[in-house]
Amino acid sequence: MSEIVDGLNGCGQGHLLRFMNELDAEGKRRYLAQLETLDLELLASLLETHVLRKPETVVAGKVEPPFSFPLEPVDNTMATFYGEAVERGRRLLAAGKVCALTVAGGQGSRLGFEGPKGAYPVTPVKKKTLFQYFAESLKRARSKFGGPIAWYIMTSSSNDAATRAFFEECGFFGLGADTVFFFSQGEMPAIGFDGRILMRSRDSLVMAPNGHGGTLLALRKSGALDRMASDGVEHISYFQVDNPLVSVVSPLFIGLHDLNKSEMSSRALIKTGPFEKLGNFCLVDGKLTIIEYSDISKELAEARGGDGELLFKLGSPAIHVLARGFVERLTRDGQLNLPWHRAEKKVPFIDDSGRLVEPTEPNAVKLETFIFDAIPMAENPVVLEARREEEFAPVKNKTGVDSAESCRSMMIARDIAWLEAVGVRVPKRADGTPDCVVELSPASFFDAEDVEARFGSDAPSMESRGEYYFE
Ligand code: UTP
Repeated sequence: MSEIVDGLNGCGQGHLLRFMNELDAEGKRRYLAQLETLDLELLASLLETHVLRKPETVVAGKVEPPFSFPLEPVDNTMATFYGEAVERGRRLLAAGKVCALTVAGGQGSRLGFEGPKGAYPVTPVKKKTLFQYFAESLKRARSKFGGPIAWYIMTSSSNDAATRAFFEECGFFGLGADTVFFFSQGEMPAIGFDGRILMRSRDSLVMAPNGHGGTLLALRKSGALDRMASDGVEHISYFQVDNPLVSVVSPLFIGLHDLNKSEMSSRALIKTGPFEKLGNFCLVDGKLTIIEYSDISKELAEARGGDGELLFKLGSPAIHVLARGFVERLTRDGQLNLPWHRAEKKVPFIDDSGRLVEPTEPNAVKLETFIFDAIPMAENPVVLEARREEEFAPVKNKTGVDSAESCRSMMIARDIAWLEAVGVRVPKRADGTPDCVVELSPASFFDAEDVEARFGSDAPSMESRGEYYFE
């Protein structure tokens, strides 16, 4: 106890002890246990660099555009290589050497949905939740590729119990409870702009998940890495909980990653413009790096090559494959130094008199690390372009850009594109937009190939203003 008191007083956080004498024995015990989780040395240094002032975000070094594998092979040699990669990816999946990993520890504050974001209903007809959509897709992938494909889901302390309960209630969507693993990520306290850690109540701090970069250490600390090793998993197919269109596992992507002996690979989208809010793939002093949209200079963002295209045209949809050995290497000594990022948020807290304050303007800093900051530490990192319409429909906001509404339209458009590619006639309005609602169940349609197999020679007939669900 006296060690904590000295430590807190020593770094200007003595106010955290102000209600200590009012707490009963149980409250005191719980609160002390929480205080003990704080890394005071790290916090003291972050206070200086990231809280009391904004960190420098100047990108030092020579910045160039990186190589990326294109969507379609550009010549015969590349076509042969892609063919080998698909074959390799399928074999790795069949042999159980690949698992899926969904990061679902975020707070989803922009969406403002009560409950884990994965329990948010997204599909156009059946209103399936994000978790159900991924689960069905994984189930189909297991039968299509003939391998076990375990599913790891990262939660955080505020949604861990609710996430587990949701899966229980839904019978693990038929995946088998012993094939889905939850693990919880680390946290950091929210800190007021004045440098004081905020309290949620008289016996608790305001804690927040420490960013998706926390995945790496959480995999190690939770024992998930050990489990993967003993199950023979070599590669981790990583995606975010709010992007239902993602291929939960992609044979081509996994195969390219493996054939190139890459430690961490990434999908990339062609940006819609210089300032699209996606991380930018760059080579910084020869190392593949993602520079946040807020950190890239205007000059670099707008730079164009001789062909008129943006030089830094590749944006990150946060889809990766990581080698298990890479995560092991980075976290071997139980530490991982990824750079910290500062986010300014509106954070309710109790003041010195114990009264709840609900700020209307940002009042605090949350500290996070990002998984993509591990890319420069990876050997042979691969970038593979992705077709936006097929891989990326994020649900971030209530309305407008990247909302449930835009996601719904993109899901319909993707399913219609797959149907039209095999000759199904889909009713359209005069302006070319679909005049019907369509939903393909991922339990049957993992990819365009599955659509071809079902409808290639037996196209369903569809009518204007109809609502169609195919399973
Ligand atoms: P976002 O950056 O969109 O954050 O996360 P968020 O917390 O979900 O939403 P807002 O910003 O509060 O509205 C992108 C992905 O990373 C995961 C999220 O769950 C989402 O899948 N994530 C984010 C974590 O798993 N842990 C974190 O600490 C942060």
